[in-house]
Amino acid sequence: ERGQYRHYMQKEIFEQPRAVADTLEARIHAHGVLPNVFGVGGDEVLATVRGLHIVACGTSYHAGLVAKYWIESHARLPVSVEVASEYRYRDVVVPPDTLFVAISQSGETADTLAALREARRRGYRGTLAVCNVPESSLVREADLKLMTRAGPEIGVASTKAFTTQLTALALLTLRLAGLNGIDADRYAALCAELMHLPRAIDDALALEPAIAELAARFVPRQHALFLGRGVHYPVALEGALKLKEISYIHAEAYPAGELKHGPLALVDESMPVVAVAPSGPLLEKLKSNLQEVRARGGELFVFADTRAGMDETPGTGALIRVDAGGDFIAPAVFTIPLQLLAYHVAVLRGTDVDQPRNLAKSVTVE
Ligand code: M6R
Repeated sequence: ERGQYRHYMQKEIFEQPRAVADTLEARIHAHGVLPNVFGVGGDEVLATVRGLHIVACGTSYHAGLVAKYWIESHARLPVSVEVASEYRYRDVVVPPDTLFVAISQSGETADTLAALREARRRGYRGTLAVCNVPESSLVREADLKLMTRAGPEIGVASTKAFTTQLTALALLTLRLAGLNGIDADRYAALCAELMHLPRAIDDALALEPAIAELAARFVPRQHALFLGRGVHYPVALEGALKLKEISYIHAEAYPAGELKHGPLALVDESMPVVAVAPSGPLLEKLKSNLQEVRARGGELFVFADTRAGMDETPGTGALIRVDAGGDFIAPAVFTIPLQLLAYHVAVLRGTDVDQPRNLAKSVTVE
C-alpha cells in the first residue's frame, strides 16, 4: 500500500500534485470557475452573499484562515474564521446574507458538526461544507458542498487534505470574486495561477533531499518558532502544528510583527526559527524581524520565494529557495517544505509518524 514510501504521511505528501489536480478537475478553465461547482443552487446563493463565517478545527481551521486573506482581498467580502469548539458555544452575531462554511477532512469532527447544526438554527443565507468524504454527516447536513478530492488520508497528520482544502477554497474565492466585480484581467491571472498549482507543488517536492538534510539540526531541539506575515501566517501555524504533532517538539507560530511583543524573549542560540518569506511588500518588514532574531543568536531557517530577493544566508541557519509560482497560490506551495521538514524531523527522532501518541485521525467526541 505504501509502495516506495516509508510512511503513509510521506506517500500522502507526494500525492499532493495529483490530489490538487483532481480537486480542480472539471471545475475551472482558462475563462474561470465553471457553473454549479458548489452543488444545486450554489451559484444563486453565492451571488447574494455579503460575508462569510468559516468554522473548522486544527489543520482545517488553518485552511480557513488562508481563505480569509484570499476572500477579503479578491472578493472584498468580510470573513471571520473561528475554531468550531468556540463558535458552537458563543453568542454569535450573524449579519444578513452571511454564508456559513464548515471545513473538515473527515466530515465527522464532533465540534465542526455541532457548529454546523448550531449554524442552521442561527439563520444564515446558506451553509457550505468543504469536505473530503462524500458520505459524511457534514456533507449530508449542509445545503451546499464542495468536495476535496484528496482520496483517503491515513496519516493522522493532515497533508493532502490541507492543500486540497486550500484548492477548494481558492475556487470559492474566485467564484465570489467573479460575482463581486473583480477586474477581468486580474480574475484571469488568478485562474491561470490556480491551474498551475499541481505543477508548482511538484517543483516544491523536489526540495526533499535538501530539507531532509536540514532536519538533523532540529533533532536535539526542544522548541521551535515559526514566523510568517499576512497570508503566510496561517502557513506558519500549520508548519508548527505539523512539527509538534509528529516530532513532539514544542513549536509555536507567530505573525512576525508580534515578535517584539513577547516571543522574542525566548530567542537564544537554542531556538530554531523557521520563517516563510514570500515576495511582495511585506518582505522588507520580515527581513527586519529576522534581523532581530539573528542579533539574539537564534538559528534561522528561511524558506524564501525565488523572486523574493533574499540573498544572504541568514546567520547560522539556512536559506531554502522555493518557487512559489505566484502570490495567490504561494501559501499552498510554501506548505510543502514545512510538511517535509516536520516529516523528516520526526523520522530522525524515531517517533510513530503515521500515528502520533495521544491523537486520533478523526475526533468524533468533544
Ligand atoms: O477531519 P477534520 O478536518 O475535521 O479534522 C480536524 C482536525 O482534527 C485535524 O485537522 C487535525 O488537526 C490534524 N491531525 C492535523 O494534522
